Amino acid sequence: MKIAVVKEMAAGEKRVAATPETVKKFIALGAEVSVEAGAGATASIADSDYQAAGATLATRADVLKGAGIVLGVQGPDPASVAGVAPGAWIVAGLNPFGERARVDAYAAAGLEALAMEFMPRITRAQSMDILSSQSNLAGYKAVLDATSEYGRALPMMMTAAGTVSAARVFVMGVGVAGLQAIATARRLGAQVSATDVRSATKEQIMSLGAKPIFVENVKGIEGEGSGGYATEMSEEYQKAQAELVSSHIAKQDIVITTALIPGRPAPRLISDAQLATMRPGSVIVDLAVESGGNVEGSVAGEVVERHGVRIVGHRNVASRLPADASALFARNLYNFLSTFWDKEKGAPVLDEEIGDAVRLTQGGKVVNARLLG
Ligand code: NAI
Repeated sequence: MKIAVVKEMAAGEKRVAATPETVKKFIALGAEVSVEAGAGATASIADSDYQAAGATLATRADVLKGAGIVLGVQGPDPASVAGVAPGAWIVAGLNPFGERARVDAYAAAGLEALAMEFMPRITRAQSMDILSSQSNLAGYKAVLDATSEYGRALPMMMTAAGTVSAARVFVMGVGVAGLQAIATARRLGAQVSATDVRSATKEQIMSLGAKPIFVENVKGIEGEGSGGYATEMSEEYQKAQAELVSSHIAKQDIVITTALIPGRPAPRLISDAQLATMRPGSVIVDLAVESGGNVEGSVAGEVVERHGVRIVGHRNVASRLPADASALFARNLYNFLSTFWDKEKGAPVLDEEIGDAVRLTQGGKVVNARLLG
């Protein structure tokens, strides 16, 4: 089995889908690994490190020739993988809802596309979950991005020249990214509060030493749909949440929003009128900016200022920590493929539960229930 690792093709993508560590492990399974020259450069991995791990280095065309599995962080451009034999796997974060045309192109080329973000949220798949590994880093980086835009310090400091007060940080959406943002802001000495629609997060917020800010006494506050994800909330809930946020947000220095609902636009959590109540110099980081944004006025790929408040909308935040993000992403891919590696066949054979969840295309067709339904 030949595994191909291509240099990422999306603009601004600095991650890479394999590291010398995972190359070595794939080779130990009996695979051959071919890496496109320069694939790791933006993640601080030299070509010679891949070679030392046992990979062959080649041009993109040669890397793809005869490959049975093509690994990517994002899905490779279909034209560039046109020469890959039908039946080969493309294993990457494929953004199936956002990049449907690309999925159709993989199907037309007879490729079997496996979307890592469709990994089911079950215990045995935790180590294969790219959404968790990348969100964790994004939550951390969001706090650092906020502090670099913020003209003040986060911890309280007592100096001979007087006291600097601690910053107030509010985290909206307490999934994987939100929890890491809380922990990071706490480590930096901020006073942290947080909110979510899933009531199960209240305890998690408190266990990190932050204050929970929750809508109470409204119908349907559980907010939890399938697989631990949030559902869209009722109008009554949304109104109560907006009121609660309005009174809280005016007192915050930094707000980090991370709220997502799978397959839908991100919920709007902060309106223009609400951010106008914040003090000038405050900072908001909208981690959901690429899914439509939690904050009115946030712009993907930009830092904009409205009413004296800076709104940070960096795209692809995990890629801003390319070395660690690649290391974790690459391990997710290895954990996935190695779990299903059939020694006799010398190739992975997926089971139904995980295979049906992640497989988007097969036999020239789109086959995934979430894309067909
Ligand atoms: P996510 O990225 O889909 O959403 C981020 C957060 O925003 C979630 O906590 C969600 O409840 C919240 N949210 C959605 N709408 C909101 C609104 N209107 N107002 C405020 N907050 C809102 O979530 P993520 O990070 O993927 O985690 C969701 C859950 O899945 C967590 O409980 C996590 O622990 C669990 N999980 C389980 C895994 C496994 O078992 N393999 C792997 C990863 C996560």
